Amino acid sequence: MPLMWSDSLLTGVTVIDSQHKELFRRINELLDYAGKSREKVQEITNFLQNYIINHFGTEERLMVKADYPDYPAHKSAHEKYSQEFKELKDSIDKEGINVNLTVKMNHLLIDWWINHINKVDKKMAEFIRDKI
Ligand SMILES: [Fe+2]
Repeated sequence: MPLMWSDSLLTGVTVIDSQHKELFRRINELLDYAGKSREKVQEITNFLQNYIINHFGTEERLMVKADYPDYPAHKSAHEKYSQEFKELKDSIDKEGINVNLTVKMNHLLIDWWINHINKVDKKMAEFIRDKI
């Protein structure tokens, strides 16, 4: 199951939207290579780990700059995700992608992003768009 991009996910903050699109592209690439090339999978999870940290950093800097009141909660959602992604990545590095990881992968690579962008990022973007 791919992670489907839709323009209804746009936040209106260009830098955030372009990073989200790149994330979706890379996550889909990862899902495509699952079960086909362990080497490729590892390469993409390495890339994603860095990219996600940078992406969260971008959002957090904008929130600080805009004095966004929900910054602490948003930042802690990012921290929780980073930790969970790291655990997933460690499992993938150890075991490869297997059926036991399916539920976790669907949650972290698909549902989490759709939900986070729709509920958390859009709210942030609406605030910072007015301020920056
Ligand atoms: Fe976010």
